[in-house]
Amino acid sequence: MNIKRQIKLLVMKIQITSLIIMGLLLAANTESASDNTKSTKTKITETSVSKSIFGQMPDGRQVYQYTLVNTNGMIVKLINYGATVTELHVPDKKGNFADVVLGFDNLEQYLGQHPYFGATVGRVANRIAKGKFTLDGKTYTLATNDGPNHLHGGIKGFNRVLWDSEPIVGPGLAAVKFTYLSPDGEEGYPGNLSVTVVYMLTDQNELKIEYFATTDKPTIVNLTHHGYFNLAGKGDILGHEIMIAADNYTPVDETLIPTGEIKPVKNTPMDFTKPMTIGSRIDQLKGNPGGYDHNYVLNSGGKNLTLAVRVKEPKSGRVMELYTTEPGIQFYTGNFLDGSIKGKYNTVYKKHAGFCVEADHFPDSANKTNFPSIVLRPGQTYHQLTVHKFLTE
Ligand code: GLA
Repeated sequence: MNIKRQIKLLVMKIQITSLIIMGLLLAANTESASDNTKSTKTKITETSVSKSIFGQMPDGRQVYQYTLVNTNGMIVKLINYGATVTELHVPDKKGNFADVVLGFDNLEQYLGQHPYFGATVGRVANRIAKGKFTLDGKTYTLATNDGPNHLHGGIKGFNRVLWDSEPIVGPGLAAVKFTYLSPDGEEGYPGNLSVTVVYMLTDQNELKIEYFATTDKPTIVNLTHHGYFNLAGKGDILGHEIMIAADNYTPVDETLIPTGEIKPVKNTPMDFTKPMTIGSRIDQLKGNPGGYDHNYVLNSGGKNLTLAVRVKEPKSGRVMELYTTEPGIQFYTGNFLDGSIKGKYNTVYKKHAGFCVEADHFPDSANKTNFPSIVLRPGQTYHQLTVHKFLTE
């Protein structure tokens, strides 16, 4: 063997040895990684937040998905596009988990047309008649995106913007803080509005949503979460039993604008003061497409955090309680879903595939002096706390 070849063989041996050493090191690392995973596993029984990339906006900005996990294994996933809840996994009475919200598993569908699945809605949730309101003697014209009316913040509401986002973890709490600066004149609204929304998962199986907003000019604000729930995780929601702590509601015209009256629910299909299945009287409601799409005037009057809604899905035993500081609940039974949208798990969303209980002020409050005011002035802070608590029975 010539000397050159001997040197070559020696180099190869060294290379192989160092590859083996590297391999061992890697294996050791992997072991410590799997130890980490074990400890992460033990950690999974501790509340945690992880962040991944969900997609890219057409202008190249990253869209993130946050996964919040609590010690009971409950999982909430959120994206910073629209400050949207994309998944919510809760146990049934046997401990089996199901994703109980409607939505998509990809950004493209969120960017496309959809009826506010899981989104944070603003600057003003629900309808403003003809997209006009007058504040301090000045009339403002907003974008109209629902027939003649303004709906859920307009063409590009808060559900269609990319929020800044930041994970927060504390003892017994996993959270994401979303912030957005809505510029003066956006969708026609006056004032630069600085908005913060924090979605928190607690070890008590609560999804808490806390909102804050401040402005530099008098404006109007009415934020809400537009989750579509189905506590069975499939099928329709007509068999869910619901209680709404409201003796009154606000009747609407054919374009779903309140007439201004506050009417008792007693002896009408609107009465859910005692738990009733959603479907029990739904056919008695007039209108096209029919179903519930009404604002309930909560007996609490807003302000203090009070139980507003309790929903039970009898087969799974899953229960959702909603507590809020808001004076109203928009109870909407997914009437406009018509089977044209296919969501996560290849599910086709038919009429009544989910229900919404949107905690907020009343529709068209900007034009109704007898409704609680949604005006926000410089120096004031808008605040709302709404809690969705999950349990079984
Ligand atoms: C709200 C409204 C409904 C409908 C949905 C979105 O719940 O009250 O009329 O616009 O949002 O489709």
